[in-house]
Amino acid sequence: MVKSQGGLALEVHNLSKRFGDRVAFSDVSFEVRVGEVFGFLGPNGAGKTTTVRTLGTLLEPTAGSAVVAGIPLRPENGVEIRRRIAIMPESPGLYLRLSVRENLEFFADLYEVDGPRERIDGVLRAVRLADRAGDLCGALSKGLRQRVALARALLSDPQVLFLDEPTAGLDPVAAREVHALIGGLRRRGVTIFLTTHRLEEAERLCDRVAILSTTLRTVGRPDELRDQIFAQSLTVRLVAPLPDPVATFGGLPGVTGWAADESAGYALTVSDPAVAAPGVTRALVAARADVLSISRSQRSLEDVYLELIDPAAIDTDHESG
Ligand SMILES: Nc1ncnc2c1ncn2[C@@H]1O[C@H](COP(=O)(O)OP(=O)(O)OP(=O)(O)O)[C@@H](O)[C@H]1O
Ligand SMILES: [Mg+2]
Repeated sequence: MVKSQGGLALEVHNLSKRFGDRVAFSDVSFEVRVGEVFGFLGPNGAGKTTTVRTLGTLLEPTAGSAVVAGIPLRPENGVEIRRRIAIMPESPGLYLRLSVRENLEFFADLYEVDGPRERIDGVLRAVRLADRAGDLCGALSKGLRQRVALARALLSDPQVLFLDEPTAGLDPVAAREVHALIGGLRRRGVTIFLTTHRLEEAERLCDRVAILSTTLRTVGRPDELRDQIFAQSLTVRLVAPLPDPVATFGGLPGVTGWAADESAGYALTVSDPAVAAPGVTRALVAARADVLSISRSQRSLEDVYLELIDPAAIDTDHESG
């Protein structure tokens, strides 16, 4: 069996979960370091929630192994693991006829939280709901309910916090508030496992992301994934097209290809933008071109995602000239 290792909050080895004939996820392996914000991305039905529920001891894996917050994921360790983690599920799971405070009191009791009063006050402040503590959960908006669910997940002061689409259905301002809360938790050293469909959210918040579609497609830092998947390129904008682009770009160090667009723009495929850019600039000046801009093309995490999930979805044209 895998031993617990310092510095790792999650170790997942060839984990699989099937429901009868249906494979929810298969042969998934990754590690999450203590204090990391780890994004888990994938299309609907990819197996994200099932992974969260499996690592959270709510479901038994079909195959494979894992260590969660230092403890091997086995049925006999369920109580011990649940003491160290918390899950904010896809749907908040609150008692709508109880007030916010009553809900938190109920769950604090269930989780056997020490000093429940102070703890509840603390989490209410953390999610900025202190002034709504007396409101019935049924009378709260979706975003406010989401915040109560987050408060509930924080009650037990978890080492590892699983957030299953915490910003689904929230307006941009409410989503920003959740992002700020996640930032605050990270500063306190809480490890966060975040599933999301908001790719810009993952790009902004996560140290590393995994892309799942039943099997794991990739794991890495967003910038690493971009560089792995897409050729590096420089975009040059000129006032007028070059009379002889072959003469200008041909044979420049670090430039492996180029393509022109209709409006005096050129996409240059390069091995390293920092190496290629000075030579490209000199060549353009020598060709007496009027340069509007030379920039490094930025692919987003969304491009990476679409490329891995559905390669036909985006234009990845990097043709040589
Ligand atoms: N209790 C269950 N019984 C049978 N099949 C299930 C069960 N839970 C999940 N599944 C199936 O497992 C697959 C993965 O579902 P899961 O909820 O993990 O996806 P997800 O990545 O969280 O998707 P979404 O983005 O829509 O939330 C789906 O095909 C789903 O129908
Ligand atoms: Mg889900």
